[in-house]
Amino acid sequence: MNILEKNDKVKVRARSVKREFQIKNRQGKNQPLVVLEDFDLDIQEGEFLTLLGPSGCGKSTFLNILAGLDKADGGDILVDEKPLEERSYDRGIVFQSYALLPWRTIIKNLEVGLEIRGISKETRREVARKNLERVGLAAYENQYPHQLSGGMKQRVAIARVLAYDPAILLMDEPFAALDAQTREDMQIELLRIWEADKKTILFVTHSIDEAILLSDRVAFMSSQPGHIREIIEIDLPRPRTEEIRNSVEFSQIRKSLWALLQEEALLNQSYGAFI
Ligand SMILES: Nc1ncnc2c1ncn2[C@@H]1O[C@H](COP(=O)(O)OP(=O)(O)OP(=O)(O)O)[C@@H](O)[C@H]1O
Ligand SMILES: [Mg+2]
Repeated sequence: MNILEKNDKVKVRARSVKREFQIKNRQGKNQPLVVLEDFDLDIQEGEFLTLLGPSGCGKSTFLNILAGLDKADGGDILVDEKPLEERSYDRGIVFQSYALLPWRTIIKNLEVGLEIRGISKETRREVARKNLERVGLAAYENQYPHQLSGGMKQRVAIARVLAYDPAILLMDEPFAALDAQTREDMQIELLRIWEADKKTILFVTHSIDEAILLSDRVAFMSSQPGHIREIIEIDLPRPRTEEIRNSVEFSQIRKSLWALLQEEALLNQSYGAFI
């Protein structure tokens, strides 16, 4: 059954969102760069939605706005039908970079969000350990981030957001730095958590296969100024086994997403970003 049939409550409603940056041109003069314009998107509660689109189209910008780390210049964003600015809600973001605190051990990195929430020391440690185990790094709790490989640091960043247990998970290419096997393990673990905890997930990836494998829907963005160009329902049964991945339906979706990316990349003259 498709998730949209299970629950049609809109968790996030974005309307006519605009974001414009001031950048310096080659002559050193300020000029506007419109990154998001007419950006409309509904994310259903409990849905796994992936943003896909050319490099620089504004995916991270939208995630940062939703996370409250940046502000839109226009339009409206509602979370649970209330304006984003008016409420603080539980959102957790996994960034494109790891964003770990170098002066804290791994276990203490996992405890940051829980500390802010005022959770007791014992519970913090227990939750942090459980989530470190989930990503296979229990043995590293007393190491510092610089003592871990890139892929391990990314797994810590994922464990940290899971420990925080937000209602909305914002994930910006969280698996890009991982080796193929770890990536697959993490995808399975993420789906397990999503299904068990009924989280709403907004995910960004450059991998078409990853998008099809994980998502209920893929929202495809145009190049700058970025807006949602098309929404593709991934109507494949779960779990998406090897058999499903090799199915005609899977490869048809892959083909149509490729065609969209190629079209945008040609428009954007940045074809290289996807190969
Ligand atoms: N703080 C900023 N100041 C000026 N320009 C910015 C800022 N942040 C982002 N941009 C510009 O906004 C555009 C969109 O950036 P963004 O990081 O959202 O792209 P993206 O879709 O996430 O790309 P990628 O797939 O490469 O991660 C880019 O042209 C970038 O240079
Ligand atoms: Mg990005």
